[in-house]
Amino acid sequence: MNMKNVIYYFTGTGNSLAVAKKIAAALGECELIPIASLTDTPMIAPVADRVGIVGPVYFLGLPLMVAEFAGRFDRSKAGYTFAVVTYGGSGSEPTLRQLDGIIRKQDGRGLDAGFSVKMPGNYILMHDSPSGKEQDDIFASAEKRLAEVIPAIGKCEHNALPRSLAGSLIHAVAYPWFVSHARTKARDFTVTDACTSCGTCVEICPADNIELVDGKPVWKDRCELCLGCIQLCPAQAIQAGPKTIQRLRYHNPEIDPGELRRTKK
Ligand SMILES: Cc1cc2nc3c(=O)[nH]c(=O)nc-3n(C[C@H](O)[C@H](O)[C@H](O)COP(=O)(O)O)c2cc1C
Repeated sequence: MNMKNVIYYFTGTGNSLAVAKKIAAALGECELIPIASLTDTPMIAPVADRVGIVGPVYFLGLPLMVAEFAGRFDRSKAGYTFAVVTYGGSGSEPTLRQLDGIIRKQDGRGLDAGFSVKMPGNYILMHDSPSGKEQDDIFASAEKRLAEVIPAIGKCEHNALPRSLAGSLIHAVAYPWFVSHARTKARDFTVTDACTSCGTCVEICPADNIELVDGKPVWKDRCELCLGCIQLCPAQAIQAGPKTIQRLRYHNPEIDPGELRRTKK
C-alpha cells in the first residue's frame, strides 16, 4: 500500500533541504513543501500517513519561522509525525524538544520521533564554515547518520526525544537573545561596490525581507538570520562587519542556488 508522505522544510543554505530531499526520495511519493511558502496560511493540517518537519538549529532552538509554523500545525489528521534537525555543532536536543512542545499544545500529541543530522555549520557571523577534508568528513558522517534515520522513518519508528541538560540550560539563555535580535539583525548588513544588482539575495530570502532600492539590497524587519543572502551572493558583496570579508561563503554543494528561491506567495 502506498503511503502518503509530506515533508515541510525550512532552509537557509541548503543543508536541511538536502536532508529533506534524501528522506523524500527514500520514502517514494512525497510532497516537499517550503515552510516559507506557508507564512500566510492560518492552519496547516496535513492529511497524510507520514508527516515530516526538517530544518536547522538556530541558537539551540528553532528558526522563528519554524516556531510560528509549529504553532499553526494541526496534526489531528497526520499519521506518523517526525522531525529532523540539521546542526553544525550542538543544540539539537533542545530544538527537537521545543518543536515537540509547541506541536503538543494543540491536542496533546507531539512528535512521534525526532532525529538530528550534523552538517557543516553556516553561522558566518562567528566562524568560517568547514571546508576541504573537514567538510568532506562531515558529509560522510551525515550520510552514515541518514542511513540510520531514513529506515527508521520508513518503518515509522517512534523514539524518545534526546535530552541534554547542558543544552536546555544554554537554550534558556541563548534562545531569548536570538528571538530579541534576529528580526532586525540584518540592519547591520552592508553591501559593497561588488554588488551587481542581480537580485539573488531578494529571490532566496525565505522571509521576503530584502528589496532592491536603487539596485542595492535593503533589509526590512522580518529577518530569520538564515544568512542565505551573505552566503549565496554571487559577488560576495554582502558583509556583516569586517569579519565576514575574509570568511569563506558556504551553501550545501548538493543544492543548486535556484532551489533556494522562495516560493512566490
Ligand atoms: C542564526 C544561526 C544560528 C545557528 N545556531 C546553531 C546552534 O545553536 N547550534 C548548531 O549546532 N548550529 C547552529 N547553526 C548552524 C546551522 O544549524 C547548520 O549549519 C544548519 O545545517 C544550517 O541549515 P540550512 O543550510 O538548512 O540553513 C546556526 C546557524 C545560524 C544561521
